[in-house]
Amino acid sequence: MKAAGLSRYLPIEDSRALEDFELPPPAAPQGQDLLVGVQAVSVNPVDAKLRRSGKGEETPPRILGFDAAGTVLAVGPGVTAFEVGDEVYYAGDVTRPGCNAQLQLVDERLVGRKPATLDFAEAAALPLTTLTAWELLFQRMPYQLDGRRNAGRVLLIIGGAGGVGSMAIQLGRHAGFTVVATASREESRAWCLQMGAGHVIDHRQPLAPQLQALGIAQVDAALNLADTDRYWQALGELLAPQGHVGLVVEPAGELRIGDPYKAKCIGIHWEFMFARARFRTADMIEQHRILTRAASLIDAGELRTTLTRRLGPINAANLRQAHRLLESGSTVGKLVLEGWD
Ligand SMILES: NC(=O)c1ccc[n+]([C@@H]2O[C@H](COP(=O)([O-])OP(=O)(O)OC[C@H]3O[C@@H](n4cnc5c(N)ncnc54)[C@H](OP(=O)(O)O)[C@@H]3O)[C@@H](O)[C@H]2O)c1
Repeated sequence: MKAAGLSRYLPIEDSRALEDFELPPPAAPQGQDLLVGVQAVSVNPVDAKLRRSGKGEETPPRILGFDAAGTVLAVGPGVTAFEVGDEVYYAGDVTRPGCNAQLQLVDERLVGRKPATLDFAEAAALPLTTLTAWELLFQRMPYQLDGRRNAGRVLLIIGGAGGVGSMAIQLGRHAGFTVVATASREESRAWCLQMGAGHVIDHRQPLAPQLQALGIAQVDAALNLADTDRYWQALGELLAPQGHVGLVVEPAGELRIGDPYKAKCIGIHWEFMFARARFRTADMIEQHRILTRAASLIDAGELRTTLTRRLGPINAANLRQAHRLLESGSTVGKLVLEGWD
């Protein structure tokens, strides 16, 4: 099978940072695994972080990629939710070979049926970021998807135009929040409004005066999707007593979890999208349920794809371009590669 991966961990400027390989296909699926024919993939900061941070040589090559859409080609003996021919989308498991390969094994409990109204590329843009935003808002933080429950609540999203932010804005709005997103450029600002943000402020300027200008003295909930250390103090000051903050990025330094967080009794919630797969938690089937529910909302027109750019077929050259763009830190929505040449 064709695959694009790495045998050494190199900066993206090096043409060997990601290379094309011809690899043996995976073994027949066992247990609850599906064998999927991958048709489209998206890229995420985790791909670039893994590519940059690893050490030594990989034999066989390491295959990255944790956002895919494709077709089920074979099922393990324990599979109950899918059959051959089903069209699916999933993020998968960071501890197993990724989706930048024509064939991939993935546990059915991490997989959802592809939204019927989307093509493979539009669907591949979604799983990792949808799972992240959904798990954070509705499973780690105490909020419900039901729009009536959050009416009157303000949700501040730092990094609104990124992959996670694009889906968090949509889910926050669907859940009834007034969403204030942050963006620092005209393009990212316009995208946040398209995703459903009620207001957009600039994360490169002090946040409090911009919120005050909108008549917002404090926020009920905040998601920091960009830089945990940088906004920590400001968010503690902006959050209302008994509010909640959601985090997804490892802090570079130490966070002071005392005042103002303690005095205001602010809930601090971590999300790691791969935790369920990595630790094989008893509830890992939640990811199947979330992706299935998200697909229904997409097909009902309540949520939309976050795809912004199609970069061509899945190969090393196009993946290197995708990593370069992601490493610039200024992509809007999601980059997708589709098909094999
Ligand atoms: N824990 C988890 O499960 C999990 C899951 C997914 C992602 N993540 C992490 O979450 C982060 C965001 O992921 P993503 O996929 O959304 O990234 P992304 O798509 O690469 O985000 C790009 C956006 O980040 C914004 N941005 C850049 N620097 C910023 C800053 N200092 N403050 C606020 N916004 C800034 C940019 O907006 P402007 O151009 O407007 O500045 C840009 O639109 C990454 O670090 C990723 O590794 C964690």
